[in-house]
Amino acid sequence: MREQAARDMAALAEEIRAHDVRYYQQDAPTIDDATYDALRLRLLALEKEFPELVRPDSPTQTVGAAPAEGFKKIRHSQPMLSLDNAFSEEDVRDFDQRIRKFLQLGAADELYYICEQKIDGVSFSARYEHGQLVQGLTRGDGEVGEDITENLKTILPLTLRASPPLLEVRGEVYMKKQDFLTLNESRLAVGAPLFANPRNAAAGSLRQLDVSVTAQRGLSYFVYSWAQLSEDVETHNSDMKFMLALHDMGLTTFVTRDAGAARHYQWTASLDVLLAYYQEMQAQRALMDHDIDGMVYKVDRLDWRERLGFKARSPRWAIAHKFPAEQAVTVVEAIEIQVGRTGTLTPVARLAPINVGGVVVSNATLHNEDEIARKDVRVGDTVIIQRAGDVIPQVVGVVSGASGAMRAEPYAFPTHCPVCDAQAVREEGEVARRCTGGLTCAAQRMERLKHFASRNAMNIDGLGDKQIEAFYQEGLISSPADIYTLQARDGEGLSRLKNREGWGEKSASNLFAAIETSREVALARFIFALGIRHIGEETGKLLAKHFGTFEQLQAAVLDAHARETLLAIDGIGATVAQALIQFFSEPHNQQLLATLMDVLRVQPYSAPALANTVVAGKTVVFTGTLDRIGRNEAKALAETLGAKVASSVSKKTDYVIAGADAGSKLKTAVELGVTVLTETEWLTLIGHAHA
Ligand code: IVH
Repeated sequence: MREQAARDMAALAEEIRAHDVRYYQQDAPTIDDATYDALRLRLLALEKEFPELVRPDSPTQTVGAAPAEGFKKIRHSQPMLSLDNAFSEEDVRDFDQRIRKFLQLGAADELYYICEQKIDGVSFSARYEHGQLVQGLTRGDGEVGEDITENLKTILPLTLRASPPLLEVRGEVYMKKQDFLTLNESRLAVGAPLFANPRNAAAGSLRQLDVSVTAQRGLSYFVYSWAQLSEDVETHNSDMKFMLALHDMGLTTFVTRDAGAARHYQWTASLDVLLAYYQEMQAQRALMDHDIDGMVYKVDRLDWRERLGFKARSPRWAIAHKFPAEQAVTVVEAIEIQVGRTGTLTPVARLAPINVGGVVVSNATLHNEDEIARKDVRVGDTVIIQRAGDVIPQVVGVVSGASGAMRAEPYAFPTHCPVCDAQAVREEGEVARRCTGGLTCAAQRMERLKHFASRNAMNIDGLGDKQIEAFYQEGLISSPADIYTLQARDGEGLSRLKNREGWGEKSASNLFAAIETSREVALARFIFALGIRHIGEETGKLLAKHFGTFEQLQAAVLDAHARETLLAIDGIGATVAQALIQFFSEPHNQQLLATLMDVLRVQPYSAPALANTVVAGKTVVFTGTLDRIGRNEAKALAETLGAKVASSVSKKTDYVIAGADAGSKLKTAVELGVTVLTETEWLTLIGHAHA
């Protein structure tokens, strides 16, 4: 009976998967929907009867079969960035202060902001040529997106009124709460897996190779900005005015000609008005027909935006003011330890699943040893948990009254790594306890591999966390270099990729192709991919920019004066310098790097546009008080022009720009014979004399 059921289930799963491939990937179904639904219902019935036989890769356990392959990849005309977050009014006031300082505005100067809802959906970019929608892309990794032109055509207007020859707009596709509920009801009726929230439903519905599926899902959109515009278009130097122009062309924008209560945005030079609007929207949030997770504030003046520019992943001129986290009460069923990429032991509470603001949560972080002790969270306790946006849910505290004679013992934090059993130590001044196993620890190795292949690192499509775990456990890959010999080794023993459960010829060849593509990698990504402690994306970029090639970075870090060289780079502190030196001096890392350099083509850093300036590649140091432009703007401007900004003067410095009251740096410059410029001389040199 049980054996028979297992066989039937396997056969059904295989049949359904084959239909999924024909339906979703090849656009060529061979059965009608009703017959397909009947197959799924039979499988579901068996799974309900024999829950212990349900396989994690069962077609009933995956949402849609939206494959990553199948969408063409296209580079964005300009990167799609994200936003910095503000969680309090103070954060918002700091944001305003930073901008005023950067632009050197006085307290009396009016700084207008435009404020819109932050829609919790999926971002897109859409290109109109002569008023016709010609291209639509997902965000992808921010640099390269997926071609969803046909899908977007079912949501956005195909033609615009009186639009310029070239217009690329950006916005958010989302699903209204009611459409989400209706969709899930119809999925429930046919036994299809349910979407966890409107955001996931929108994402799953947008990325469908079968456009008719997207069309049926009733998606909505808002345009919140633009990326490209024909040169002769008049924007009136105001975001609000230009958004209104987009609205008049026929796009859905927050800014409309409606006044009063129907208005969906705020335009004001008063922070108090901005914050009052935030409160108002927060109060209305639950009554809105769609999910919003905060408000976005953006500088309205476009010339100021230009001056403010961007940091690595977000503009300086905008911020998302998030709504407070949603909370719920549930029970801690267990406390487990996760071992991270750099060995940090993180305690995680396994919870009785609970719905928090529309999302089912079954794990929450307890942060670290001190936090567990401070909150005194124990197994069996009833706790308050909260989640905010994409942030990992966290345990806020124990609900009072949970204590008593029956209460479990206080949680004893392990002193050894639960994975490799190496000692777990806590260095002075650190909150984290870390496993000392290094790369002998399976958890650390696996996390490092996941990081290496991840989207913002080597970006290997089809090599996600699940695949890495499986490949690691089967001994197929244990170090990043193994990824690049996977294809050559494919077929040894029983490890042919295409014969794996859930894999086929196509998925295997797609993975090999993605691995091939990843061999050519930008220096900044590669540095980030190495997973060196304290080296995030931003520092990766900084190092790439400074050293230009991997060889130069390596030589500098292994040099006897590494510490001084690194500390002289603006933005690099002692912690990062130490982490780099330590990483590069470990023999097993050196070995790994040597192997990787053989199989990868790490691209030297190429300064983006404008590198063709008089100061491109020059190292400059600012010192003293500048009075024509602010220090931050001066730095940002120098970097935009391709110069490197350092914080200390050495023989390698090309220019020292000395403002009023310059001190020791000026002295050093004179001693070393470095060219010293006044602020005005510098501005003249770079062609900003009018600043
Ligand atoms: S402005 C340079 N406005 O939130 C980026 N973004 O968490 C300028 N989002 O990437 C973005 N509603 O996808 C902006 N009214 C709004 C938005 C909005 C939702 C999304 C957007 C962004 C993400 C950042």
